[in-house]
Amino acid sequence: MSRVRKGSNGPRPFLVKDKIVPHGRIILDGDKSIAHRALIIGALSFGKTTIHNFPVHDDSLATLGILESLGVKITRCDKRVLVFGGKGFKGPKKALFAGDSGTTLRLMLGVLAGAGIKARVCAGKYLSARPMARVNVPLRLMGAKISARKVGKEEYPPVVTGAGRLKGITYRLPVASAQVKSAILLAGLFAEGATRVIEDRFTRDHTERMLKHFGADIVTRGNTIILRPGRVLNSPGDIYIPGDISSAAFFIVLALIMPGSRIVIERLGLNPGRAGIIKVLKRMGARIRFEFLKGGKYSGLEPIGNITVSGSKLKATVVERSEIPSLIDELPVFMVAACFAQGRTVIKGADELRVKETDRINSMVTNLKAMGADIRLAGSGSRENIIINGKGRGLTGASLKSFGDHRTAMSVIIATLAAKGLSRLDDIGCISKSFPGFLTVLKSLFR
Ligand code: S3P
Repeated sequence: MSRVRKGSNGPRPFLVKDKIVPHGRIILDGDKSIAHRALIIGALSFGKTTIHNFPVHDDSLATLGILESLGVKITRCDKRVLVFGGKGFKGPKKALFAGDSGTTLRLMLGVLAGAGIKARVCAGKYLSARPMARVNVPLRLMGAKISARKVGKEEYPPVVTGAGRLKGITYRLPVASAQVKSAILLAGLFAEGATRVIEDRFTRDHTERMLKHFGADIVTRGNTIILRPGRVLNSPGDIYIPGDISSAAFFIVLALIMPGSRIVIERLGLNPGRAGIIKVLKRMGARIRFEFLKGGKYSGLEPIGNITVSGSKLKATVVERSEIPSLIDELPVFMVAACFAQGRTVIKGADELRVKETDRINSMVTNLKAMGADIRLAGSGSRENIIINGKGRGLTGASLKSFGDHRTAMSVIIATLAAKGLSRLDDIGCISKSFPGFLTVLKSLFR
């Protein structure tokens, strides 16, 4: 669970015009994307890796569980995880289970195919409906034996990997996906010859940073990432995972749309490939101040810092297609912010939202419309735009649905707090996928 800190100067007033507003300081659990990479690359590297601020949730535990099934020794004490890596993998005795974690499945497919391990990887209800051809196709080009359940041209879990040696490829990503990029790079570690991945839109580079930190020969030249295999990977020892900006986004938006609020989020991950939500909100007039932390345990891996967010008057903006990967997971809660901004916000080319845990365009449009938002769609496919006419304080309570999706659930909870009247949300169990402590942290901001 995330740590909640009281303000250092004793209790602060938090009643503004008779309305309780969020205030306080929080430190969030480690970034989910970075946690998956720390576990996987720790397992591939020689020596002991101690991961600090490890986020304990369904998705991170899915990766941890698969690595254990492959014979990797891992011990965990709360938010500290020890990975004893570099000992190779054992062929699993039974099917591996990725739960509903797309990052677990896609990244592990790169590792399994690369290491030539015969395995069958199954998935939960939501992940079983998500596309896998985007990973399987490049892995097959590298020579991997990989098969999956086919429906038309698309492939879905379960996915089966086989034995065989891979060769490096040069691959231009047809979808802007860090999961696909990472699967190819991880497979490339085991391949013969260099692997090059070309991306037209920059996606989160946690895999590249983590591989470099463990000693891999990996460089980025313009929009091409080049990985040369052959270097022995060695653990750097300790890894501190910065707070998850995807979790922070809910509190950032909450503080912005509730006048008079002021929150501080400490030790937050500020990777440029992830901080799109802050960049776009600042463009809308958000009052967000940064203080980057440098040196000591924070150096060498990921940018990290403290941010202060204060209630702000937001004005509408246009989110360009090129910006989408840097805030893809934060778009649901960004749509909430847009409802509270003045003017017409347009989100361009967010079609990847349709293939997340649920179709997040549908889930958010349905919920926000139920709350009275002026939100509509125009165009289709990669040219689809989401158009939101902000009405200031315009949302009203309603009966809402999570669609089994953690980010939809948390986004609408934020919307309900700033809306007039009561709301009802059908199911919040899905929140444990990424942020089991969400409600505890949220409540702490209203104390
Ligand atoms: C992730 C990449 C993104 C993101 C997901 C985590 C990662 O998915 O939506 O939550 O850790 O690489 P895509 O690569 O499918 O865009």
